[in-house]
Amino acid sequence: MTSTKKRYILIIAAAVLCLPLVLVLVTNQAVAHKDPHDAETLKAFQDQFMEWVILGDRLYHGDAAAEKEMGVTLSKTGMACAMCHPIGSDIHPHEFPKFQEQMSEFATLREMINWCIEKPNEGEKIDPNGDAMKALEAYMYWSAKGSVLDPGRH
Ligand code: HEC
Repeated sequence: MTSTKKRYILIIAAAVLCLPLVLVLVTNQAVAHKDPHDAETLKAFQDQFMEWVILGDRLYHGDAAAEKEMGVTLSKTGMACAMCHPIGSDIHPHEFPKFQEQMSEFATLREMINWCIEKPNEGEKIDPNGDAMKALEAYMYWSAKGSVLDPGRH
């Protein structure tokens, strides 16, 4: 076999081996938000988001009915989150994850929320992936809207 032939064979083999990678890249691009959402769909997403924010707002401000609805006990001291942190943005959701001195460990926002429920509030820790956590998180991020993302900051 001549060296030119060998070179051709090598080039063809390399092209065949790269084909799956090229396909993956092309298909991924095709599913990544190719078509913009229409106004109606965007409004439906926003309405959904605001429902969670409002639920979180109620939990944050100690609404007993909201706690009962969601089956959680965020406090047994009579203190709601808002009594120590008047608005959701006071707890700087945009600075997580970070080293949290009170816990002596690197913590996510959800872990810090549960720390406050258990320690100052003497309540019952909530499921980190449950609805009450999602709602509290939605309310806090909504309160801090426009803040510059600054993880790790103190
Ligand atoms: C009795 C007062 C008190 C109550 C009530 C309370 N916390 Fe806290 N919270 C603290 C203290 C003290 C800290 C630690 C100091 C700090 O970081 O501000 C803290 C810190 C936090 C932080 C981290 C803030 C940061 O910037 O590092 C989060 C998140 C938080 N609390 C969420 C909550 C949530 C959610 C509730 C209600 C379920 C709640 N807290 C109720 C006292 C309270």
